[in-house]
Amino acid sequence: PASATRDDDGILAIAGVSTTALQREYGTPLYVLDEDEVRMHARRTRAAFEDAAAAYGVFARVYYAGKAFLSTEVVRWVTEEGLAVDVCTGGELAVAQAAGADPARIGFHGNNKSVTELTQAVHAGLGSIVIDSRDELERLISIVSGTGATQSVLVRVVSGVHAETHSFLATAHEDQKFGFPLSDAPAVVARIREVAELNFIGLHCHIGSQIFGTTGFAESAARLVATHGELLAGGDVPVMNLGGGFGIAYTTADDPTPIEDLARGIVDAVAEQCTSRGIPMPNLAFEPGRSVVGQAGVTLYEVGTIKPVQLDGGNTRTYVSVDGGMSDNARTALYEANYSARIASRTSDADSTVVRVVGKHCESGDIVVDSEYLPGDIAPGDVLAVPATGAYCFSLASNYNYVTRPAVVAVRDGRSRVIVRGETIDDLLARDVGVVAPNGRNA
Ligand code: LLP
Repeated sequence: PASATRDDDGILAIAGVSTTALQREYGTPLYVLDEDEVRMHARRTRAAFEDAAAAYGVFARVYYAGKAFLSTEVVRWVTEEGLAVDVCTGGELAVAQAAGADPARIGFHGNNKSVTELTQAVHAGLGSIVIDSRDELERLISIVSGTGATQSVLVRVVSGVHAETHSFLATAHEDQKFGFPLSDAPAVVARIREVAELNFIGLHCHIGSQIFGTTGFAESAARLVATHGELLAGGDVPVMNLGGGFGIAYTTADDPTPIEDLARGIVDAVAEQCTSRGIPMPNLAFEPGRSVVGQAGVTLYEVGTIKPVQLDGGNTRTYVSVDGGMSDNARTALYEANYSARIASRTSDADSTVVRVVGKHCESGDIVVDSEYLPGDIAPGDVLAVPATGAYCFSLASNYNYVTRPAVVAVRDGRSRVIVRGETIDDLLARDVGVVAPNGRNA
């Protein structure tokens, strides 16, 4: 985060909180989240899209995509900064509700929402549900029929844009599970318009995640406007939701477009299409997750072992094992994501050496940082900080190898507090119904 500094002893501090103090108080691994940085990105994103939309006399609503990092505290931060919330399972919805979020400002996604989840959403009075399939639409129709309630819905479509990102993160090419082909939208919308309890409010499209530049978004928006225009023949279509997916810098090699430029580029593209088709500009909605929380998170680890490994050709690679790994950050193993690392507990004048930061799990793909230059005197006991871990690390965390999931600590103005407590082995054993000697102690 922008608030990272070194104190006089060379110890890394985040928002004025020393990382070694954090380690002493909470242990490692530890997810550290800079509250002001999350709030700043939330505010900035909202202003960027609202301003871009206001230039054309329409509104933009920014939903925070909770899948990136969800806890009640973070829901409160982003809603206080004026964002709505996007959830994609009953579990995420429960967290947003537990945080006291206004149901009218919650949107519900997902490609296989169950009857239970849809019922939970309708009863809660959610602002919108995004319809992903025919089966789901019919399920929702049977839930709302005869209730007298009105549920607003969007229809998720696939714009056919091939986003330049990891194939697991692209969602708008044809051969994947989400949404309807654009050409099916008129029939789906016609079915929705037959049902008195459903209120069709617009199309939704999300092209993928960790995308740089405006081109993909603009292209996708252009394709959507054409179908949006066709649907106007059957009634109002007040909204167009263009999803999230704005890329962030994981390392200094990444150069993301500032959110203000992205917002203007995307909104201008929609406006241009609307003008050329002679149709009114809809209100817009966006769903960023990563770009709100990603940069605000840092994971702290303690170095456990150092092992130089001889490579073919005579070079060595230093393996630095830390006390976490793919259970707290699956992204390197899943998407070959690039992270960086720094020794947080001291500075060093030693020459740099190439290291690979690895975890403590039982597979060789358990890599946190594939390749990084760190001081050659790196040693067991050093605290290592891995930045840009605010998005999709906590949310993808697992208990692989019965490793407990770390606590999340929020830092602000020189103070820290736990916002999600760390798991204990007792938490994990509590689910195992066959335990005879609790916590490994003899009965
Ligand atoms: N809206 C929809 C419908 C989505 O599917 C997603 C992300 C978002 C919004 C938010 O996208 P963002 O702004 O965060 O890029 N686990 C992967 C990312 C999966 C993204 C899934 N959908 C990762 O760690 O990179």
